[in-house]
Amino acid sequence: MVMNKGIWISFEGIDGAGKSTHIEGLASAFKSQGRSVTLTREPGGTALAESLRTLLLNEAMDPLTESLMAFAARRDHLNQVIVPSLAKGETVLCDRFTDATFAYQGGGRGVPWEILKTLESMVQGSSEPSQASSIRQPDLTIWFDLAPEIAASRLADARAPDRFESQPLDFFTRVQAGYARRRDEDPSRFLTIDASQSKHQVWQQLTRGLVSKGWLSIVTPSSV
Ligand code: TYD
Repeated sequence: MVMNKGIWISFEGIDGAGKSTHIEGLASAFKSQGRSVTLTREPGGTALAESLRTLLLNEAMDPLTESLMAFAARRDHLNQVIVPSLAKGETVLCDRFTDATFAYQGGGRGVPWEILKTLESMVQGSSEPSQASSIRQPDLTIWFDLAPEIAASRLADARAPDRFESQPLDFFTRVQAGYARRRDEDPSRFLTIDASQSKHQVWQQLTRGLVSKGWLSIVTPSSV
């Protein structure tokens, strides 16, 4: 559902799936093809939302509070950054969006799916009366699909873990199932990437997907 002039892509996956390097690479690829890129992230992307991110990643709170904070940050981010950038025709690359709340708070923490759906329609519901029933979503969500066991072994070498990264394996198994459920509910919005491949192969799969959408004109060489 493309309701705007710009292109909006979100990137998802469990911690350790390796999305960050590829987001940077894609930002360069889009820019080198003349597109104006807004690179942003959730929770975050505005001063208020970045403050909420710090709280969410560091302070103990119950799962519904986590969800409310994620959606409060999202509301500010949508209003201040995403919607205006799309209106200007920009390519918005967003490191995580709503699917992360369904995966982490829904799958991982057990917040009922219907509660998250209600919050989603409150926060992402269109303000245009003609589109009263539509929910703002990325044009494409790229899911870095990786077995939690492999992600855990990659994370073992990483920096000091935050509140989510330090969760046990079974948490990430539930988060992974949450992502799969979201993808199955809206498959045409998703591009699923096999993140167990080498970085080069992941890049190839990613750029091929964007070329087939007509958003990149050639498969640019791997930046990784
Ligand atoms: P992440 O995006 O992986 O950033 P970094 O690379 O800096 O670690 O970290 C964000 C964390 O927040 C990640 O563990 C997932 C979690 N998260 C939620 O629990 N709910 C949400 O709605 C979002 C957007 C993220």
